[in-house]
Amino acid sequence: MAILVTGGCGYIGSHTAAVLTEAGREVVIVDSLVNSKALVVNRIEALTGRRPAFYKADVRNEQALAEVFETHPIEGVIHFAGLKAVGESVAQPLAYYSANIEGAAALLRVMQRQGVRRLVFSSSATVYGDTDIIPYTEDLPLQPMNPYGRTKAAVEWMLTDLYHSQPGWSISILRYFNPVGAHPSGLIGEDPAGIPNNLMPYITQVAVGRRPELGVFGGDYPTPDGSCVRDYIHVMDLAEGHLAALGLIEGSHGLFVHNLGSGRGVSVLEMVKAFSEATGQAVPYSIKPRRAGDLPAYWADASKALRDMNWRTHRSLADICRDAYEFQRQNPKGYVETT
Ligand code: NAD
Ligand code: UD1
Repeated sequence: MAILVTGGCGYIGSHTAAVLTEAGREVVIVDSLVNSKALVVNRIEALTGRRPAFYKADVRNEQALAEVFETHPIEGVIHFAGLKAVGESVAQPLAYYSANIEGAAALLRVMQRQGVRRLVFSSSATVYGDTDIIPYTEDLPLQPMNPYGRTKAAVEWMLTDLYHSQPGWSISILRYFNPVGAHPSGLIGEDPAGIPNNLMPYITQVAVGRRPELGVFGGDYPTPDGSCVRDYIHVMDLAEGHLAALGLIEGSHGLFVHNLGSGRGVSVLEMVKAFSEATGQAVPYSIKPRRAGDLPAYWADASKALRDMNWRTHRSLADICRDAYEFQRQNPKGYVETT
């Protein structure tokens, strides 16, 4: 039996595909490559000794998806495929509604027809929006603040309605905090196109000399050092969280919602310091104006995931920094087709 990983060539999907393969699972990847490269499949094979089946297809293409289900004995799906850049979602909301909501709806229709009713869905802490209640617990109301977040909340509601309408579904909704780091081998990691939007890839690109300095967005927030605080989670811990979630929905029927985070807040300036200490690389930076839409501080209450599926993070901030740097060092220009 096999697990279908949509978006499996992407950042989190590739690490999860590797962890699943290492755990003895058969992995089938469907990815349109809109934000990734096919050579990631070679890297997963190099890491694990087994090559996942790969289909270049858009999840909105129901016929292509159905063919995958008819070719492989799929018993469950982890749905990563989608668009994820908040700023782009403000500029191009229809592209986000289409990829994220129509994509999920198409996948669910195909699963329904094929009789596959186990799904793990990539949601985000961004669904909580602006709340004073920190750390975030899963029972907080959803009040997303941007189109990207609204697509994630909409899919959560779609899954909830589907679960209540039909017997037999078993669904895990995982709300990720800030995924960072890379596989310790340096073979797979985060490879954003263009100028990175997110903190960690920006830091690693400064560290290898691709960019002159980091701009720290805001130094006057009401936090201990004035920079924003987030909950950074090593992508390998996150990948292992998907294995735990699969175990949960395979072992029982239900609709489960879990935060996946470390439960610890780290500021931008603490991250810069931790990176320099862990890697020996200086990260020049300067304080810039605040970035629109940023919240001062939030982190996860991750205790429900520990209770329900015995999952917690194991990797440290130093592990995160070292592994992120190692990927960037081995792949200074990201994934390049000849490697
Ligand atoms: P990513 O862009 O690296 O991976 C997504 C993959 O999906 C890419 O390989 C892309 O080519 C593919 N894809 C996009 N649209 C597709 C479509 N219509 N059909 C088929 N494939 C398609 O992103 P990621 O960081 O690995 O994120 C994976 C999932 O986790 C996304 O759903 C994202 O919204 C969610 N998430 C990510 C973060 C984060 O910080 N990275 C945080 C919270 C939630
Ligand atoms: C962003 C998204 C969020 C998504 C998450 C996934 C926004 C507003 N939010 O979260 O929806 O779920 O990514 O990882 O885009 N920073 C700098 N300099 C930089 C880049 C970032 O100082 O060059 C700061 C930011 O101001 C923030 C922190 O670093 O305080 C983390 O930023 P980022 O990595 O972009 O993640 P989030 O904004 O937390």
